[in-house]
Amino acid sequence: MSFKDQIQRRRTFGIISHPDAGKTTLTEKLLLFGGAIQEAGAVKNNKIKKTATSDFMEIERQRGISVATSVLAFLYKDKKINILDTPGHKDFAEDTFRTLTAVDSVIVVIDVAKGVEEQTEKLVQVCRMRNIPIIVFINKLDREGKDAFDLLDEVEQKLGLAVTPLSFPIGMGYDFKGIYNIYEKNINLFSGDNKKNIEDTIAFDDLNNAELENIIGNKAAEELRENLELVQGVYPAFDKESYLKGTQQPVFFGSALNNFGVRELLDCFIEIAPAPRPKKSEERLVVADEEEMTGFVFKIHANMDPKHRDRLAFVKIVSGTFERNKPYLHVRQNKKLKFSSPNAFFAEKKEIVDISYPGDIVGLHDTGNFKIGDTLTEGEILHYKGIPSFSPEHFRYINNADPMKSKQLFKGIDQLMDEGVAQLFTLEINGRKVIGTVGALQFEVIQYRLEHEYGAKCTYENFPVHKACWVEPEDPKNEEFKEFKRVKQKFLAKDKRGQLVFLADSQFSLQMTQQKYPSVKLHFVSEFD
Ligand code: G4P
Repeated sequence: MSFKDQIQRRRTFGIISHPDAGKTTLTEKLLLFGGAIQEAGAVKNNKIKKTATSDFMEIERQRGISVATSVLAFLYKDKKINILDTPGHKDFAEDTFRTLTAVDSVIVVIDVAKGVEEQTEKLVQVCRMRNIPIIVFINKLDREGKDAFDLLDEVEQKLGLAVTPLSFPIGMGYDFKGIYNIYEKNINLFSGDNKKNIEDTIAFDDLNNAELENIIGNKAAEELRENLELVQGVYPAFDKESYLKGTQQPVFFGSALNNFGVRELLDCFIEIAPAPRPKKSEERLVVADEEEMTGFVFKIHANMDPKHRDRLAFVKIVSGTFERNKPYLHVRQNKKLKFSSPNAFFAEKKEIVDISYPGDIVGLHDTGNFKIGDTLTEGEILHYKGIPSFSPEHFRYINNADPMKSKQLFKGIDQLMDEGVAQLFTLEINGRKVIGTVGALQFEVIQYRLEHEYGAKCTYENFPVHKACWVEPEDPKNEEFKEFKRVKQKFLAKDKRGQLVFLADSQFSLQMTQQKYPSVKLHFVSEFD
């Protein structure tokens, strides 16, 4: 197969949802379609369970499992599909944000009864910022839920999407009869039997055909005709280009648990979802079919075995082919590295691979060379954009609890920050270190890992910060900025990259600061154009 064909057959995407909407179940059904797993339950473990909020042994165990499920690849109808795991747990949202820099499209799963939930809103916002093509899957149609039109409205309003349904439910919950597939023009009847095949769908080009009454009954037939008429009247026809630009989002209905509506979703997905897309670097736009390999690290996972402190760096291949034992330039460190055992992922397994193509993820064993956001090339100086840090929600001073182990502590903190577990801020005024995290859970994870992986002990002290804002002065030399730095000295820190950060102690002080120093821009994200 030619290089170009290899690129064209790849689909790299993430499934995002609020916890419990059905992401894991859907992932599993997709893998079943690809024949990548044999039975249900095989990927059930890839989520951090709610019960784990204060049990870090459990987190560690699950973290181990999630290495295996970080990338799930399978073949379906000759397409190579890579699903990147995106933790739904809000304490790991930052992980998910970063993973979204490595996907070419996403599927958003929404619970028919709960509608659009908080975590989904945040994640979709990030996708919209990047114009990532989105398909929506409304799940659990076998249960009572909201009216389909109300849900479509909710998706439009809360998520800011412009939807067009490509399938439509016939009834719901107790009365759920099946779905009409607008995209393929057929009916799939629901029987609660999840072994159903494509042959069981009934082609139905013309809904005025009286046969419809025989199949789904008079009342349902009438309702379906009315609903589809309304769909036609209200929603624009599906337009692939608009979907690819991120300006229109097709919607499917189904029930992942019953494997219902999933085949329809997958068949449409492989047809319309983009092959690896071009990616912006600071220097230029890089296109997948360029000959030279380029890629970037979007995730780092520490080894579960404390005796081997190596880590697995996940690299998304953007262009060219990644080959085993070939030297690549680690741009930030300006040194060439060779990898003798790059891992590829297949279903829940990882194996050594000789060659990987754009869209693929390779796992590289790393002894501390990589940071999230690092770029690999064949020699070109290139920096991939778009792995920003977001303002953390929780802040604490971190103190050394064992003076004999300060070296270990600093090394541990350094490496955990490179992995993206949390963010470190160093106060300008006294050099004290402050850890900022998205969820309270990470403080326990850090403390536990420092002790078990680095032999260092830390304690925390409260540090009341409302938000961390990255500071961008209009003119670093102007008086206003000088005054800002002088007056706010106590609240200023540097992040790990040396960028200046303002730690606002309340929403009020943030507003006052913005008003008083209008020429000093305060950003909630570390990267700004
Ligand atoms: P998540 O990864 O998004 O967090 O969700 P997950 O797939 O684990 O699904 C959450 C719960 O919803 C699970 O039940 C799952 O079985 C159920 N579920 C998923 N899809 C459907 C569906 O189409 N219909 C119905 N009725 N339920 C669905 P659970 O009881 O929390 O977990 P489990 O005991 O089944 O593992």
